[in-house]
Amino acid sequence: MLDLDADALLTTTRAVRKRLDFDRPVPREVIEECLAIALQAPNGGNMNNWRWIVVDDPSVIAKISEIYNGGLDDYISTMADSGGYPGSVVPGADRIDGSVGHLRENFHRLPAVLVPVFAGRMEEANLFYQASSWGSIIQSVWSFMLALRARGLGSAWTTGHLWREKALAELLEIPDYYTQVGLFPIAYTLGTDFKPAYRKDPSEVIGWNGFA
Ligand SMILES: Cc1cc2nc3c(=O)[nH]c(=O)nc-3n(C[C@H](O)[C@H](O)[C@H](O)COP(=O)(O)O)c2cc1C
Repeated sequence: MLDLDADALLTTTRAVRKRLDFDRPVPREVIEECLAIALQAPNGGNMNNWRWIVVDDPSVIAKISEIYNGGLDDYISTMADSGGYPGSVVPGADRIDGSVGHLRENFHRLPAVLVPVFAGRMEEANLFYQASSWGSIIQSVWSFMLALRARGLGSAWTTGHLWREKALAELLEIPDYYTQVGLFPIAYTLGTDFKPAYRKDPSEVIGWNGFA
Protein backbone atom coordinates (compact mmCIF):
# COMPACT_ATOMS: atom_id res chain seq x y z
CA MET A 1 0.00 0.00 0.00
CA LEU A 2 1.22 3.50 -0.78
CA ASP A 3 1.91 5.87 2.08
CA LEU A 4 -0.91 8.36 1.35
CA ASP A 5 -3.22 9.94 3.92
CA ALA A 6 -6.91 10.30 3.08
CA ASP A 7 -6.61 13.85 1.72
CA ALA A 8 -3.62 12.95 -0.45
CA LEU A 9 -5.45 9.91 -1.83
CA LEU A 10 -8.56 11.97 -2.60
CA THR A 11 -6.66 14.79 -4.30
CA THR A 12 -4.14 12.80 -6.32
CA THR A 13 -6.29 10.07 -7.83
CA ARG A 14 -6.08 11.16 -11.46
CA ALA A 15 -7.37 9.99 -14.81
CA VAL A 16 -4.30 7.93 -15.67
CA ARG A 17 -3.72 7.25 -19.36
CA LYS A 18 -0.11 8.00 -20.34
CA ARG A 19 1.26 6.42 -17.19
CA LEU A 20 -0.55 3.10 -17.33
CA ASP A 21 1.82 0.15 -17.36
CA PHE A 22 0.40 -1.91 -20.22
CA ASP A 23 3.03 -4.63 -19.79
CA ARG A 24 2.65 -5.50 -16.13
CA PRO A 25 0.00 -8.11 -15.34
CA VAL A 26 -2.56 -7.34 -12.63
CA PRO A 27 -3.45 -10.30 -10.39
CA ARG A 28 -7.18 -11.02 -10.13
CA GLU A 29 -6.91 -10.94 -6.32
CA VAL A 30 -5.90 -7.27 -6.41
CA ILE A 31 -8.95 -6.39 -8.51
CA GLU A 32 -11.22 -8.45 -6.26
CA GLU A 33 -9.82 -6.73 -3.18
CA CYS A 34 -10.45 -3.27 -4.70
CA LEU A 35 -13.97 -4.28 -5.69
CA ALA A 36 -14.73 -5.60 -2.19
CA ILE A 37 -13.74 -2.16 -0.85
CA ALA A 38 -15.73 -0.37 -3.55
CA LEU A 39 -18.91 -2.26 -2.73
CA GLN A 40 -18.95 -0.66 0.73
CA ALA A 41 -20.04 2.66 -0.83
CA PRO A 42 -23.66 3.69 -0.23
CA ASN A 43 -26.41 2.52 -2.56
CA GLY A 44 -30.15 3.30 -2.47
CA GLY A 45 -32.05 0.91 -0.20
CA ASN A 46 -28.89 -1.21 -0.06
CA MET A 47 -30.35 -3.12 -2.99
CA ASN A 48 -26.98 -3.91 -4.60
CA ASN A 49 -28.60 -3.72 -8.04
CA TRP A 50 -25.31 -3.97 -9.82
CA ARG A 51 -22.94 -6.30 -11.58
CA TRP A 52 -19.22 -5.69 -11.90
CA ILE A 53 -17.88 -7.21 -15.11
CA VAL A 54 -14.10 -7.56 -15.17
CA VAL A 55 -12.46 -8.48 -18.45
CA ASP A 56 -8.91 -9.80 -18.45
CA ASP A 57 -9.03 -11.94 -21.59
CA PRO A 58 -6.77 -10.14 -24.11
CA SER A 59 -8.88 -11.24 -27.09
CA VAL A 60 -12.00 -9.69 -25.51
CA ILE A 61 -10.09 -6.55 -24.51
CA ALA A 62 -9.02 -6.18 -28.16
CA LYS A 63 -12.69 -6.21 -29.20
CA ILE A 64 -13.58 -3.72 -26.45
CA SER A 65 -10.78 -1.49 -27.69
CA GLU A 66 -12.39 -1.39 -31.14
CA ILE A 67 -15.76 -0.47 -29.60
CA TYR A 68 -14.17 2.22 -27.42
CA ASN A 69 -12.31 3.76 -30.34
CA GLY A 70 -15.39 3.58 -32.55
CA GLY A 71 -17.44 5.27 -29.83
CA LEU A 72 -14.96 8.13 -29.58
CA ASP A 73 -15.00 8.49 -33.38
CA ASP A 74 -18.80 8.75 -33.22
CA TYR A 75 -18.53 11.42 -30.51
CA ILE A 76 -15.93 13.42 -32.44
CA SER A 77 -18.04 13.35 -35.58
CA THR A 78 -21.01 14.86 -33.68
CA MET A 79 -18.84 17.76 -32.54
CA ALA A 80 -18.31 19.03 -36.05
CA ASP A 81 -22.03 19.95 -36.07
CA SER A 82 -22.09 21.42 -32.57
CA GLY A 83 -19.29 24.00 -32.72
CA GLY A 84 -16.37 21.85 -31.50
CA TYR A 85 -15.35 20.23 -28.24
CA PRO A 86 -16.58 22.31 -25.26
CA GLY A 87 -13.61 21.21 -23.13
CA SER A 88 -11.06 22.78 -25.49
CA VAL A 89 -11.03 26.03 -23.46
CA VAL A 90 -10.13 24.33 -20.17
CA PRO A 91 -6.57 24.86 -18.86
CA GLY A 92 -4.46 21.84 -19.86
CA ALA A 93 -6.83 20.80 -22.69
CA ASP A 94 -3.90 20.06 -25.04
CA ARG A 95 -2.37 17.67 -22.54
CA ILE A 96 -5.72 15.95 -22.02
CA ASP A 97 -5.98 15.49 -25.82
CA GLY A 98 -2.58 13.80 -25.99
CA SER A 99 -3.39 11.62 -23.02
CA VAL A 100 -6.77 10.56 -24.45
CA GLY A 101 -5.02 9.68 -27.72
CA HIS A 102 -2.46 7.56 -25.88
CA LEU A 103 -5.16 5.51 -24.17
CA ARG A 104 -7.02 5.10 -27.47
CA GLU A 105 -3.92 3.76 -29.19
CA ASN A 106 -3.02 1.39 -26.36
CA PHE A 107 -6.43 0.36 -25.06
CA HIS A 108 -6.06 -3.15 -26.52
CA ARG A 109 -2.93 -3.65 -24.38
CA LEU A 110 -4.67 -3.09 -21.04
CA PRO A 111 -4.22 -5.94 -18.54
CA ALA A 112 -7.86 -5.62 -17.45
CA VAL A 113 -10.98 -3.51 -17.88
CA LEU A 114 -13.97 -2.99 -15.58
CA VAL A 115 -17.54 -2.50 -16.81
CA PRO A 116 -19.92 -1.69 -13.94
CA VAL A 117 -23.60 -2.02 -14.79
CA PHE A 118 -26.80 -1.41 -12.85
CA ALA A 119 -30.31 -2.78 -13.24
CA GLY A 120 -32.71 -0.38 -14.96
CA ARG A 121 -32.78 1.94 -17.98
CA MET A 122 -32.84 5.70 -17.62
CA GLU A 123 -34.36 6.74 -20.98
CA GLU A 124 -37.90 7.07 -19.59
CA ALA A 125 -37.04 7.53 -15.90
CA ASN A 126 -37.95 10.65 -13.92
CA LEU A 127 -35.28 12.59 -12.06
CA PHE A 128 -35.84 10.66 -8.83
CA TYR A 129 -35.12 7.33 -10.50
CA GLN A 130 -32.21 8.73 -12.49
CA ALA A 131 -30.53 10.27 -9.44
CA SER A 132 -31.23 7.22 -7.29
CA SER A 133 -29.87 4.83 -9.91
CA TRP A 134 -26.70 6.69 -10.86
CA GLY A 135 -26.21 7.69 -7.22
CA SER A 136 -26.25 4.05 -6.24
CA ILE A 137 -23.19 3.10 -8.23
CA ILE A 138 -21.01 6.12 -8.96
CA GLN A 139 -19.55 6.32 -5.45
CA SER A 140 -18.57 2.67 -5.67
CA VAL A 141 -16.77 3.21 -8.95
CA TRP A 142 -14.86 6.14 -7.50
CA SER A 143 -14.01 4.06 -4.41
CA PHE A 144 -12.68 1.42 -6.78
CA MET A 145 -10.43 4.01 -8.41
CA LEU A 146 -9.22 5.17 -4.99
CA ALA A 147 -8.54 1.60 -3.89
CA LEU A 148 -6.52 1.04 -7.07
CA ARG A 149 -4.52 4.20 -6.46
CA ALA A 150 -3.78 3.16 -2.85
CA ARG A 151 -2.20 -0.01 -4.27
CA GLY A 152 -0.11 1.62 -7.00
CA LEU A 153 -2.62 1.06 -9.81
CA GLY A 154 -4.59 3.53 -11.86
CA SER A 155 -7.65 3.97 -14.02
CA ALA A 156 -9.56 6.67 -15.89
CA TRP A 157 -13.28 7.26 -15.95
CA THR A 158 -14.30 6.74 -19.58
CA THR A 159 -17.69 6.91 -21.25
CA GLY A 160 -16.64 7.20 -24.91
CA HIS A 161 -17.74 3.69 -25.82
CA LEU A 162 -21.32 4.42 -24.75
CA TRP A 163 -21.95 5.77 -28.25
CA ARG A 164 -21.77 2.07 -29.07
CA GLU A 165 -23.13 0.61 -25.85
CA LYS A 166 -25.15 -2.04 -27.70
CA ALA A 167 -21.99 -3.47 -29.26
CA LEU A 168 -20.44 -3.90 -25.81
CA ALA A 169 -23.68 -5.30 -24.36
CA GLU A 170 -23.70 -7.88 -27.13
CA LEU A 171 -20.04 -8.78 -26.64
CA LEU A 172 -20.36 -9.22 -22.87
CA GLU A 173 -23.93 -10.56 -22.97
CA ILE A 174 -25.26 -7.76 -20.77
CA PRO A 175 -29.07 -8.01 -20.54
CA ASP A 176 -31.08 -5.18 -22.16
CA TYR A 177 -32.44 -4.05 -18.81
CA TYR A 178 -28.98 -3.05 -17.54
CA THR A 179 -27.23 0.33 -17.90
CA GLN A 180 -23.47 0.53 -18.41
CA VAL A 181 -21.73 3.16 -16.27
CA GLY A 182 -18.52 3.37 -18.31
CA LEU A 183 -15.32 1.54 -19.12
CA PHE A 184 -12.53 1.58 -16.56
CA PRO A 185 -8.97 0.62 -17.51
CA ILE A 186 -7.07 -1.28 -14.82
CA ALA A 187 -3.26 -1.27 -14.77
CA TYR A 188 -0.33 -0.55 -12.51
CA THR A 189 0.90 3.03 -12.89
CA LEU A 190 4.36 4.02 -14.09
CA GLY A 191 5.53 5.68 -10.88
CA THR A 192 3.14 6.57 -8.10
CA ASP A 193 3.66 10.32 -7.71
CA PHE A 194 0.52 12.16 -8.88
CA LYS A 195 -0.53 15.71 -8.12
CA PRO A 196 -3.76 17.65 -7.57
CA ALA A 197 -5.16 18.91 -10.90
CA TYR A 198 -6.69 22.18 -12.12
CA ARG A 199 -10.18 22.82 -10.81
CA LYS A 200 -12.13 26.06 -10.53
CA ASP A 201 -11.46 27.75 -7.21
CA PRO A 202 -13.99 26.65 -4.55
CA SER A 203 -14.98 30.32 -4.02
CA GLU A 204 -16.21 30.40 -7.64
CA VAL A 205 -18.50 27.41 -7.28
CA ILE A 206 -19.79 27.42 -3.69
CA GLY A 207 -23.13 29.14 -2.98
CA TRP A 208 -23.98 29.79 0.66
CA ASN A 209 -27.71 29.77 1.44
CA GLY A 210 -28.65 29.85 -2.23
CA PHE A 211 -27.36 29.42 -5.76
CA ALA A 212 -25.61 32.75 -6.20
C1 LIG B 1 -18.09 11.20 -16.83
C2 LIG B 1 -16.67 11.18 -17.35
C3 LIG B 1 -16.42 10.72 -18.63
C4 LIG B 1 -15.12 10.65 -19.12
N1 LIG B 1 -14.89 10.09 -20.36
C5 LIG B 1 -13.63 9.92 -20.78
C6 LIG B 1 -13.35 9.19 -21.98
O1 LIG B 1 -14.25 8.69 -22.66
N2 LIG B 1 -12.06 9.04 -22.34
C7 LIG B 1 -11.02 9.52 -21.59
O2 LIG B 1 -9.86 9.33 -21.99
N3 LIG B 1 -11.25 10.22 -20.46
C8 LIG B 1 -12.51 10.41 -20.02
N4 LIG B 1 -12.75 11.05 -18.82
C9 LIG B 1 -11.61 11.53 -18.00
C10 LIG B 1 -11.56 13.06 -17.91
O3 LIG B 1 -11.06 13.56 -19.12
C11 LIG B 1 -10.66 13.48 -16.72
O4 LIG B 1 -11.25 13.05 -15.54
C12 LIG B 1 -10.46 14.99 -16.70
O5 LIG B 1 -9.63 15.39 -17.77
C13 LIG B 1 -9.84 15.49 -15.41
O6 LIG B 1 -8.64 14.81 -15.15
P1 LIG B 1 -8.38 14.23 -13.69
O7 LIG B 1 -9.47 13.21 -13.41
O8 LIG B 1 -7.02 13.59 -13.73
O9 LIG B 1 -8.42 15.38 -12.74
C14 LIG B 1 -14.04 11.11 -18.32
C15 LIG B 1 -14.30 11.57 -17.01
C16 LIG B 1 -15.59 11.58 -16.52
C17 LIG B 1 -15.82 12.01 -15.09
